[in-house]
Amino acid sequence: MFDRPANGTAAVLVSLDLGGAGYAESLEEIQLLAASAGIATRALVRGRRARPDPALFAGKGKVEEVAHTLAATGARLAIFNHELSPVQERNLERSLGCRVVDRVSLILDIFAQRARSHEGKLQVELAQLEHLATRLVRGWTHLERQKGGIGMRGGPGETQLETDRRLLGKRVKALKEKLSKVQSQRAVQRRARSRSNLMAVSLVGYTNAGKSTLFNRLTRAGVYAADQLFATLDTTTRRVHAAGGARVVLSDTVGFIRRLPHTLVAAFRATLEETIHADLLLHVVDASSEDRDAQIAAVNQVLEEIGARGIPQVLVMNKIDRTPFTPRVERDEYGRISRVWASAQSGQGLEFIRLALEESAAAAQAPAAPKSSVAA
Ligand code: GTP
Repeated sequence: MFDRPANGTAAVLVSLDLGGAGYAESLEEIQLLAASAGIATRALVRGRRARPDPALFAGKGKVEEVAHTLAATGARLAIFNHELSPVQERNLERSLGCRVVDRVSLILDIFAQRARSHEGKLQVELAQLEHLATRLVRGWTHLERQKGGIGMRGGPGETQLETDRRLLGKRVKALKEKLSKVQSQRAVQRRARSRSNLMAVSLVGYTNAGKSTLFNRLTRAGVYAADQLFATLDTTTRRVHAAGGARVVLSDTVGFIRRLPHTLVAAFRATLEETIHADLLLHVVDASSEDRDAQIAAVNQVLEEIGARGIPQVLVMNKIDRTPFTPRVERDEYGRISRVWASAQSGQGLEFIRLALEESAAAAQAPAAPKSSVAA
C-alpha cells in the first residue's frame, strides 16, 4: 500500500547544516542510504540554516535551487536528509512539482525492501502505517478547519479520510496483535534457553559495522552480509561453536543508525527484545571509520532508549585489516575484557572474541559452581 520509488529512480538529495556535529558524516550517510534504497543520486544540494523554516524546511532561495537542480538533472524525486513535518512535505511537493521523501520514509523504504521474515514484514508495515497515520490525521484536521470556514458539513473528501483512518486503525490493531503473538513465542524460547543455562549474546552495532560477517564467522551460518545499510533486518539466533565448550547463543540484530526514526524503534521492539534480554552485548564497531566514536555514541543512545544500556558490553573494534591496528584485547580495572581489536573478514583476532565469550560465560556460571561442588 505504500507508494515507494522504484529501483533506479533518479533523485536530488538535499541536506542542510543546522549547526550540529557530524554534518560531513551525515552527507556521506544519506548518499549511502539512497544507494541502499536502490536510488541513483543525480546531485546533492547543500546549505546552512540556523533553524528549519516551518513551511518549507529550507529557505525559499534553497527550494528554488533544488527546483533548478531537479530540472537540470531530469530527476523526479527530492530526498531530504531531515525529518519533515507533513505540512513541510506537502508544501515542498507543491513548490517542487515532484515527490518529496524525508529521511524517515527513506529508512522505512529500505526496511520494507529488506524484510524477509513474517515478523520483520509485520514490523515494517506497522512502522509505515504509523508514519502514514500522522500524515492522515493532520491532513484531516486541516480539512476540518477548512470545512468549518466555508460552512459545509460532510463531503466526499471527509468521508474518504474518515474511512481511511478507520481502516488504518483496524490494520494497525491487527498488526499489533499478530506481533504480540510472535513476541510471546520468543519469550517461550528465551525461557527454554535460560533453563538450559545458555548464555544469550546479542550482536549490536551501527549499520554496516560488520555484525552479519562476524555472526557468520562465529556460527558458520550463511547470513546475508552486504555493503549496504540495513542488510540484516531479522533477528537470527544460533549456537556458537567451539567457544571452549561454553554454552552460548548469539543473535544478529538490526543495525542502528543515528536519528533512527522513533516509529521504527517502537515497531522493532519485538526484535530488540532479544537485545534487552541478552546477558552480554557484542557491540561491533567499524574501527576503520573516522566516524566511529559518534557511531558508538549513537548505538549507546538507542540502547538507552530500549532499556539495554545496563547490559555488559564488549566492544569489537572490527575491520582492523583496513587500519594499522593489530589484534589484541583490552581489559577493564576488574580484569574483564572490554575491547577486542579484530577483523571479521580476515579472521584476525577472532580467537580474542571467542575468549571474551568464554570468559563471560564462565563468569556467568560462576555463582552456580559452589552448589555443584557441595553436591559432589
Ligand atoms: P547491517 O545489516 O547494515 O546492520 O550491516 P552489518 O553490521 O551486519 O554489516 P555486514 O556484516 O553486512 O558488513 C558490511 C560490509 O562490511 C560488508 O561489505 C562486509 O564485507 C564488510 N566487512 C565486514 N567485516 C569486515 C572486516 O573485518 N574488514 C573489512 N575490510 N570489511 C568488513
